[in-house]
Amino acid sequence: MSVTIIVGAQWGDEGKGKIVDLLSQQADIVARYQGGANAGHTLVIGDKKYVLHLIPSGILHGNVQCVIGNGVVIDPAALMEEIAMLESHGINIQGRLFISHRAHLIMPYHKLLDTAREKATGAPVGTTGRGIGPAYIDKANRSGIRIVDLLDRHQFVEKLRANIAEKNTLLQKLYGQDELDVEKIVSDYLSFDTRIDPYITDTALFLNDAVQNGKRILLEGAQGALLDMDHGTYPFVTSSNPTSGGACTGLGLPPTAVQRIIGVVKAYSTRVGNGPFPTELTDATGEKLRAIGQEFGATTGRPRRCGWLDAVALRYSAIVNGITDIALTKMDVLNDFDELQICTGYVLNGKRLKTFPADCAVLERVELEYETLKGWNTSLAGIRNFADLPQAAQTYIQRIEELSGARVSYVSTSPDRDDTIIRQ
Ligand code: GDP
Ligand code: IMO
Ligand code: MG
Repeated sequence: MSVTIIVGAQWGDEGKGKIVDLLSQQADIVARYQGGANAGHTLVIGDKKYVLHLIPSGILHGNVQCVIGNGVVIDPAALMEEIAMLESHGINIQGRLFISHRAHLIMPYHKLLDTAREKATGAPVGTTGRGIGPAYIDKANRSGIRIVDLLDRHQFVEKLRANIAEKNTLLQKLYGQDELDVEKIVSDYLSFDTRIDPYITDTALFLNDAVQNGKRILLEGAQGALLDMDHGTYPFVTSSNPTSGGACTGLGLPPTAVQRIIGVVKAYSTRVGNGPFPTELTDATGEKLRAIGQEFGATTGRPRRCGWLDAVALRYSAIVNGITDIALTKMDVLNDFDELQICTGYVLNGKRLKTFPADCAVLERVELEYETLKGWNTSLAGIRNFADLPQAAQTYIQRIEELSGARVSYVSTSPDRDDTIIRQ
């Protein structure tokens, strides 16, 4: 039995896609447990680059089965596009993709409400506009439409009409938008029905059987711990639970099935969208990190905000996720710095805080304690053993281990699958 959760330990875009793809070489199943097409997971193999939004990052391995769990919110249009993209690259997904009949559907009105609300509010979250928040609102409101509803046309159309009537009122009265064309949405979604049908199954049963049969399973998180609805920088978060606990509810696997939790950590920090970001650098150093790290959103293309590694946030993330191993990515982006900084403490009104603050207003106000470490000023290309890393890079990694309390088991030195140091 082997179940490993792979979580983003910061604000997303840590390189989860690369790490999941790498570890898929030794996996039978990869399952996504939350989020939707707000995610953008990049896989680079040689001169080919794939960006996945919904389909798990194990899909490039022909012998790996991929699951989209009940916790994911599925935009059928985005899913169809992704399937077509993979097929155009000769990647066969027939018989390898399994979609939970309990997963909720993203509807056109979710996307409209997402963007309308962002425009209307004085404090926008900076969402991806993929309808994620409104879809999870409907799920919690018990009015959401699920994959299983597609199987009963009559019931599906009834639920859809009831939802559209309500959403039309909201869109028109609150946001001054045009009425939605009910018939068009009904016919679009009925056409998805037949196309999605072959993939639909009871994925919780499928996964629990796989656990019983000793399959090697990876559970792939989207976003990151600090974007978690419960544990992140609320309200500047996404509307699901990317933290490791979300993997169990999002797939119907019991916590007792899980052995290992890998936190993917970028060697510095980035954040897309709004909200507190204590170590953000708005100066030339931040620009340099963005330029070298190519820090532009994989889903929206927005420039990512950049800053030094925040070990206070990382320690908190390691605790709430129960991280057993760290996969440290983008170490190569730091190749060309004389000095590197790591934030080791938050200070408020002259007092060092003991915990990661829950209040965003506090996070915006904290003063930061930094530790300065030596850069290595050399390329890491081709290095496959930890012992071959420059001493300064080894020291940087060891300091991350001390500050986070978790072992760095993987060090990634380029977007490519092969450029990774695996520590036994
Ligand atoms: P995810 O959402 O966590 O899967 O991460 P993204 O794919 O959104 O962003 C990570 C970006 O960094 C992608 O463009 C990756 O190809 C790239 N990447 C991953 N690991 C490394 C690395 O070790 N070095 C460099 N230079 N790029 C990396
Ligand atoms: P991956 O899986 C980085 C951010 C958005 C916004 C907030 C809420 O590629 O790491 P949403 O559209 O989810 O309602 O937006 O969350 N966000 C991400 N940031 N990586 C992601 O996914 C993200 N998905 C959402 O920018 O601040
Ligand atoms: Mg991403």
